[in-house]
Amino acid sequence: MEDGARKPKQDAANLDMIVTPWEVKGVIDYDRLIKDFGTQPIDEAILSRMKNLAGGLHFMLRRGFFFSHRDFDLILERCEKGAPWALYTGRGPSGQTTLGHVSPWIFTKYLQDVFNIDLYFQLTDDEKFLYQRELSLQDVEKLTYENALDVLAIGFDPKKTHLISDIRMSRDMRELSLEVAKRVTFSTVRAVFGFTNETNIGMIYHPAVQAAPCFLPSRIAKMDVPTLIPCAIDQDPYWRIARDVAPRMGYHKPSGVYCKFFPGLGEGGKMSSSEPETAIYTTDDPNVARRKVMNAYTGGRPTIEEQRRLGANPDVCTVFWSLYFLFEPDDEKIQDLRESCKAGEILCGECKTNLAEKVVTFLEEHQKRREQAKKIVESTFI
Ligand code: TRP
Repeated sequence: MEDGARKPKQDAANLDMIVTPWEVKGVIDYDRLIKDFGTQPIDEAILSRMKNLAGGLHFMLRRGFFFSHRDFDLILERCEKGAPWALYTGRGPSGQTTLGHVSPWIFTKYLQDVFNIDLYFQLTDDEKFLYQRELSLQDVEKLTYENALDVLAIGFDPKKTHLISDIRMSRDMRELSLEVAKRVTFSTVRAVFGFTNETNIGMIYHPAVQAAPCFLPSRIAKMDVPTLIPCAIDQDPYWRIARDVAPRMGYHKPSGVYCKFFPGLGEGGKMSSSEPETAIYTTDDPNVARRKVMNAYTGGRPTIEEQRRLGANPDVCTVFWSLYFLFEPDDEKIQDLRESCKAGEILCGECKTNLAEKVVTFLEEHQKRREQAKKIVESTFI
């Protein structure tokens, strides 16, 4: 197996950092994750190739929201040669979609637009049913529908976007997952995911189902169509399994481009759908979302007088990071904001109002597109 294929050991330095596909906790050290997982940093060489191909760099690349990869260069090489490839990403429908889920999708849409290619989007309703005791099959199927509306509302090209519900799995998906499953032992998934004797057997099979779409475009086209997976880095364990079996199945290894965790509105930690006060859902009433933003944790001082005198700290501010990673693509504006924050020239209330306006505008538009998506959603499932 590839580097980092074994579950990283906990030691004193990363005792409070837990990153698995099901749990993200503690202060995240992204350099450490690159080492532990055995992925590559996105370096200048990758950025300049991407810049040439796309005629500019997306702000999520410029600002290191997408910070790591596996074999992204092989995909860029295909772009340079005009060889086919496809995008693959997904979502586990355990609740309504948050801004944290939406942020990598916006980058994925950008890739679809720039390269004009197909996207395969997997909804792992099977996994969420198996993992979350309280969710019934009916619940997850409903959430698959709800999340699918969000995917389409992002504006992916419906003619080039193929949604996969694992529960409704196609024959191709079924056969691919069987081919994967036959080549992966319990001992491997136990080491990679930390499964135990108490893990239900559905979960043990699931890595084969999440690996299957890596090969689906090739299987459908009956030719080499390798995949690039834009996702948060916690999904990498799945791709290690997929990359391990790929050559034995006669396919290219999937490539990945990995983002950081989008911050929640509370002190520290990622935006989590199980923490409604510090997460913004795409289905939130815009006024509710505004209130959440106005209550966000900032890097401000206890009093106005102190803030004017000493300045505030954008580095720990959830409002600043929400703007930096998602809502303020203009580099000059974000730089000005950082400086005036540090200099005490701008107060937190003003900044929160600015973010709240952007969030409200986003939600109003997204919710309209979400309604329109109802007409086409069924036809985008394969
Ligand atoms: N397991 C992922 C989740 O819980 C869902 C998923 C399936 C996914 N395939 C993917 C995420 C591909 C990113 C890329 O969210």
